[in-house]
Amino acid sequence: MANHFPTDFLWGAATAAYQIEGAAAEDGRGESIWDRFCATPGKVRNGESGAVACDFYHRYPEDIALMRRLGLDAFRFSIAWPRILPEGRGRVNAAGLDFYDRLVDELLANGIQPFPTLYHWDLPQALEDAGGWPERATAEAFVEYAEVVASRLGDRVKHWITHNEPWVVAWLGHALGVHAPGRTSTQDALSASHHVLLSHGWAVDVLRRESPGSEVGIALALTHTYPASESEGDRQAAWWADGSFNRWYLDPLFGRGYPDDMVEHFAPQGPPVEEGDLEAIAAPLDFLGANYYFRQLVQEDPDGDRPILVRDPDWSFTAMGWEVYPDGLHDLLVRLRTDYDPPAIYIFENGAAYDDVRGHDGEVRDPERQAYLDEHLAAVGRAVDDGVPVRGYFVWSLLDNFEWAEGYWKRFGIVYIDYPTLARVPKGSFYWYRNFIAEARGEQEWRASA
Ligand code: FCB
Repeated sequence: MANHFPTDFLWGAATAAYQIEGAAAEDGRGESIWDRFCATPGKVRNGESGAVACDFYHRYPEDIALMRRLGLDAFRFSIAWPRILPEGRGRVNAAGLDFYDRLVDELLANGIQPFPTLYHWDLPQALEDAGGWPERATAEAFVEYAEVVASRLGDRVKHWITHNEPWVVAWLGHALGVHAPGRTSTQDALSASHHVLLSHGWAVDVLRRESPGSEVGIALALTHTYPASESEGDRQAAWWADGSFNRWYLDPLFGRGYPDDMVEHFAPQGPPVEEGDLEAIAAPLDFLGANYYFRQLVQEDPDGDRPILVRDPDWSFTAMGWEVYPDGLHDLLVRLRTDYDPPAIYIFENGAAYDDVRGHDGEVRDPERQAYLDEHLAAVGRAVDDGVPVRGYFVWSLLDNFEWAEGYWKRFGIVYIDYPTLARVPKGSFYWYRNFIAEARGEQEWRASA
């Protein structure tokens, strides 16, 4: 399968600041909404938090050495806004910028391209206290933050990701209350989604100005929706699910505004759109980022207006309870090209959690993850063959890490973290991915010296 990929295809791995860095109270970092959420009883499994996580803040040289052994071309990480601006706006914390400066230099010194995400969910608590993403002022604050970061790193960073998964920020954080800040209001979710998208659009110009020659994009949580039957009701339900997860974000980013059917569905609530907002959100992208984990098989709900997600116990599921459905990634990629025609696509997240354990010999064998990655990469290869402009693939995740409300028990890494000692143990899938990358590059075998 590996030979389906062009030789300049980027092989990567992805992470996020709060999930790996730890050092939550060091070097002047301010409080984030995830620190607060974790400290709120009952919100995160076992009361866990990202206070220590993988201690990437101190151990990043060791982790970059692992990336080099893997043969990675690119590393996706996120920048913690509260390290840069502890109060969200105003005072810049030099030590926070210094950390990412060192990280970028160390990556480049190892031949690995940095792909930073500016916002992977760790809003400074001070901004939440002032109203958070449902307030337009938070979008303004994001642009100031983007400018501070890009003016420091913009000479070396050539790919910027503004936001990670606005759907999750809006709905898990503001309507369903299962992520920070834990709100439960549909209107807050709609306002938050609009301000996240707006802040993205505004930041595109700033990033291009402060980081000349760089490429700018966004990472969306995307799924492919299928009707459970050919019935009209199921087809409509699947279209609704597509509207909620995919079109609500893709349509405005690609200049079409919010989809009418969804606006009608939410009315009289809705996104607080002001004049010029839709033009700002539609700022041309250099690339679209797709995060894909599972498909959705959708049935109409005869008693309500929300679709039902169908599951068959005979299917294969990961430890998250997410269905393994590689064709969904192929179908998603083809659909993105057909309906939106982005200039380039990166798969910024794809991977699986399984209940990994260390064997008596100290090794971690994870054949299910290996199969998951193999099948999904085959699906990407088919999309490349079909002419979809996929430029890179980032496995989620390099390391086991803090899986948000699930805490540490959901392990997504291709490297196992022994949390009591923080030792890194490459899993079977790590070696498998290393060989896959080497083969895709046309190398006979992985470079023992690397
Ligand atoms: C995505 C998130 C990422 C990680 C994976 C499993 O939604 O972007 O941080 O939690 O899911």
